Amino acid sequence: CHIEQWDSDDPVPRSELLKKVAGIQGLYCLLTETIDAEVLDAAGSSLRVVSTMSVGYDHVSLEELKKRGIRLGYTPDVLTEAAAELTVALLLATSRRLLEAVDEAKSGGWGSWKPLWMCGYGLTGSTVGILGLGRIGKAVATRLKPFGVKKFLYTNSAVRPEMAAAIPAEFVPLEELARCSDFIIVCCALTPETKGICNSRMFSQMKDTAIFINTSRGGVVNQDDLYQALANGRIAAAGLDVTVPEPLPTDHPLFKLKNCVILPHIASATWSTRNAMAVLAANNLLTGLRGDAMEKEVFL
Ligand code: DGY
Repeated sequence: CHIEQWDSDDPVPRSELLKKVAGIQGLYCLLTETIDAEVLDAAGSSLRVVSTMSVGYDHVSLEELKKRGIRLGYTPDVLTEAAAELTVALLLATSRRLLEAVDEAKSGGWGSWKPLWMCGYGLTGSTVGILGLGRIGKAVATRLKPFGVKKFLYTNSAVRPEMAAAIPAEFVPLEELARCSDFIIVCCALTPETKGICNSRMFSQMKDTAIFINTSRGGVVNQDDLYQALANGRIAAAGLDVTVPEPLPTDHPLFKLKNCVILPHIASATWSTRNAMAVLAANNLLTGLRGDAMEKEVFL
């Protein structure tokens, strides 16, 4: 192949992308690039395959790809374990107030041992609600089980009996998930149906002791509503690995809250996982260009 590469860890500037895609046959992209009609038009009719180095493909316009008969590759499975592991880490960091505690220890806030100081919420005997029971949701639940969780609930666009049986988890409507869970973990994809699904209505139904975790996409959450819920003590705390926008500006109000732990979208960031994603995305592109079955393809 002849390859035009944006040789930097920073995202390719839009103008550069639009210029460089002209006449290409395959496009290897990241979740930082919006692949829409403008990019596809700039590429022209030669473009046959788009391969994204991500499991999420909400940055790609499926409708525009379909219209043009362009195939799409993505990278599920290889990041499931890393994403689940980070989700558990974020949950524990949030529920047991790890960042706050480290700050207190460093800054002299650590006085004598006090019975109620730095208390958080434990998983033992809890009810965990998974919003979006797919590969990652299941892997998160599997990892949380040994912590002594009493009950797993899930909600999803469709009931998933086989996946749920392995945990086991009970399917409930979103309202019930909100009402009954001590921990809510968002693992669903961002789609028109899930956009903003975690909003003031949902937060108002949650327990005031509940912890909210999101490692899927920031767009699933109405961030203003989440801020209000956290600032007003409507829910206990939130842990976010994804936000809108990314990066979240450092002066964003959510950063000012002690009960909000924010990570910079690192769920899949282990050396081996990122390498596996990179290789899978490259192989998807090459097999797609040959006209063969891609290892992981989104069927449009
Ligand atoms: C993805 O792949 O969609 C994750 O958000 C980053 O690995």
